[in-house]
Amino acid sequence: MQKKSKYNVAIVGATGAVGVEFLKLLEDRDFPIDELRLLASPRSKGKKVIFCGREIEIQVLTPASFENIDIALFSAGGSISKEYAPHAVKAGAVVIDNSSAFRKDESIPLVVPEINPQEIFKHQGIIANPNCTTIIMGVALWPLHQANPIKRIDVATYQAVSGAGAQALEELRLQQQAILRNEEPVARVLKYPIVNNLFSHNSDMTENGYNQEEMKMVYETQRIFGEERLEINPTCIRVPIERAHSEALHVTFSKPMTLTDAQQILSKSQGVTLVDSRSDNYFPMPLLASGQNNVFVGRLREDLFDKTKFALFVCGDQLLKGAALNAVQIAEVLIA
Ligand code: A2P
Repeated sequence: MQKKSKYNVAIVGATGAVGVEFLKLLEDRDFPIDELRLLASPRSKGKKVIFCGREIEIQVLTPASFENIDIALFSAGGSISKEYAPHAVKAGAVVIDNSSAFRKDESIPLVVPEINPQEIFKHQGIIANPNCTTIIMGVALWPLHQANPIKRIDVATYQAVSGAGAQALEELRLQQQAILRNEEPVARVLKYPIVNNLFSHNSDMTENGYNQEEMKMVYETQRIFGEERLEINPTCIRVPIERAHSEALHVTFSKPMTLTDAQQILSKSQGVTLVDSRSDNYFPMPLLASGQNNVFVGRLREDLFDKTKFALFVCGDQLLKGAALNAVQIAEVLIA
């Protein structure tokens, strides 16, 4: 990308749960922006948002939306990315795509800056931002993997509702209010009530009995770690939490992993906050991680029976490190 003092940036899906976080991050991190173009569906036409004290009107996304744009941040779903990212690339922009549209394409970098930043510069117009659950797990496990290669990850997730979009988040809040009024919670966006409940992740089921979210954790982690034989066995669950995902990880290493080694490695790992007080029962919690950039890691335990196995619990804000922050960090490396 041509070096400039300021860049023209477009956000596709600017009114969505991730889009709103893009706006806050670009402002808070002083991203050098000349023009910011905010794009969404016809439903949002004419809405206005404030960015750095300026009022910006939302425009309707069209194939011509990317003229003079340097960086296009996409978060409006896979079908929109597939249709419009090629228009953005043709107009000369670098696309950083938050959807799953391009993540399986080996010619398109799939990047977590703490893990494989070198991939960013191999792009041919599009860089894919990984799945939120995958990013959060990867940030926690990569430093351990560097010291002691991981052979297998058994993981159960507790995933926040924001991962299903702004409307699902609104539905959680409406259901919470309904419960307080002694009314039945109504499910319209998600298939079942999420308040006072949890259920298997709402992504489509695949033929092998794992849903798409679970399969993303498998092949995306293998790709990002550059380890195609890494075994990953996920169970992904949606829980009534607003914005931070939690994950219980049971990891098998190549050689024994001690508590001291894991503590030492994680206490100085990039993007990780170690929260691990057994005396206070103080460990990662979604409330702690919400609104935070780092992935919170703790509940570190050696396996009772096998010294090569080790357990951890992690929480990460899925809208930030799981989505918008990871994409903005990629953009920052691009322009550095
Ligand atoms: P809109 O608010 O106008 O519907 P979320 O993941 O939180 O549900 O957000 C999805 C984002 O994608 C929103 O900003 C939404 O805009 C945008 N979006 C959905 N469909 C389209 C479309 N056909 N064209 C452009 N943007 C779209």
